[in-house]
Formats: sequence, structure tokens, C-alpha cells
Amino acid sequence: MNLPPPAPADSAKVSYLAGWKLKEYAEVDSTNFVASRLPAWQAVRADTQTAGRGRFQRKWVSDAGGLWLSAVVPTPGDREFWQTLPLVAGLAVLEALKSFGLNHARLRWPNDIMVGHKKLAGLLLDMFSPELAVIGLGVNVSNQPADHDPALQGTATRLADLINPVPSLTELTEAVLFQLQKKMEIMVTRGFRTLQPRINARWGGTPRVVVDLDAEKREGIFAGVDDEGRLLLREDSGNLATLAVHQVKLLREV
Ligand code: BTN
Repeated sequence: MNLPPPAPADSAKVSYLAGWKLKEYAEVDSTNFVASRLPAWQAVRADTQTAGRGRFQRKWVSDAGGLWLSAVVPTPGDREFWQTLPLVAGLAVLEALKSFGLNHARLRWPNDIMVGHKKLAGLLLDMFSPELAVIGLGVNVSNQPADHDPALQGTATRLADLINPVPSLTELTEAVLFQLQKKMEIMVTRGFRTLQPRINARWGGTPRVVVDLDAEKREGIFAGVDDEGRLLLREDSGNLATLAVHQVKLLREV
């Protein structure tokens, strides 16, 4: 489990929306760290992050104008079951974006939000305690990530270049939290199987991928996920490999 740094003095603006208590800050280190100190159904948004975190210990550029949001959800009981949460959170974000007219965004396993081959948004899930997950979401909205990291030129995109009008950060926050709450309710009442077909419809076709496992790399056609969230890989031999989420370190589209 990750240990967050100690809490800063609290200067949050508090509001209640879509069943959530939302705390908003001008600047934090990482909204996931702030959320680590909160109970379920609370969320944190910040205008900027000084230590925004991406997957694989990468830095996440968090300049003003983007949506930097973390939401705390309960994950009681079966740990295996909750391993599907990154996929479900990705679907929630896609559906929130669709409500603003962005119809052609897609998922890249496990939970990047892509438009074509450019990344629009990323998710970072943390479990700071056994029964709570922090879903951290970064969406490029009107910020310019490539101005802060030239490596993002050509690989990142932002909502302002994709839809008009661009929703405000408040509207986006509300839509994402609304979708997250709905998806969590479905997970608890009807299970991941209910969401699996919708997730599988959003991978944007069947890309060729290389999958890094602990001790080997496997290549083939990404064929979605099964009803327990395991990744399906159609290898060139015709074999359909079923890979548990924890086995897969990294997936690259090639
Ligand atoms: C990735 O694609 O690598 C995941 C990026 C996740 C970024 C978000 S921004 C809000 C939350 N706070 C963080 O420090 N990271 C996540």
C-alpha cells in the first residue's frame, strides 16, 4: 500500500454534487494524496498539482486548465472483483465525455482515454487502505501539456482541440462524478459482467499489441476483456490467451 505525505492545512471550497462531497483547492501536491485522507464518496479537485503522479511512477503534467480530480470509492469484500475497477472507471470517464459530444474517444487498456493515437486522459488508481480506492483522473481540457513537457508534443491531445464548446471544469467534474457513482452502483448490484460488453465496445477496434508480462513479452491482437476483466490476446498461432490484470505490466499498441 502507498503511504501519502502528511496533510497540509485545509483551505478547500466544499460543495455537494451528484451524491459526492467535493473539495476544491487552488493547488495541491497530488489530488490522490489529498483523497487518501478522505472517506468514501468524497472527491478532490485542484486547479494545479505540484507533484501530479502518472502510472509507473511517472510525473503527470498538471498545469492550469486541466481537470485533476480524485474520487474515493468503497471496495468492500472480494479483492479480485475490485481489480476490474480501473476498467469501470475508464468507462465512466468515456461516458462523461460523450455527454459533451465527444463520441470518438476510446479506451486503451487498462484505462487510458485516447482520441486516435493521442492521449486525452489518464487514470491512476491507488489503494491507501484495504477497503477504499482512490480513482485519480487527469483530463487535458484547455491546458497545454506539451508546453511543459515537449515529449508530449504529438502524443497528447486536449478537449479544447476536439469539441466546441468546451465544458467548464465544474461541468466536467459533475459529469464524471455522476458517471462514477452510477457505475459503482451497477458494480455492486449487478456486477462487472453487466459493464463488460460496454467496455469491450470502447477499445476502438482490435489493435495489435505487445504485452509485457513478468518474464516474457507476448504479441497479438487485443481482443478485449472477459467477464472477470482478464485481458484477451489473440496470438498469431490462433491461441486466445487469457491474462489476469495483475500479470500484465504494460500493453503497447504497435
Ligand atoms: C496516467 O495515465 O499515467 C495516469 C495519470 C493520472 C493523473 C491524475 S491527475 C489527478 C490524480 N492525481 C495525481 O497525482 N494523478 C492523478
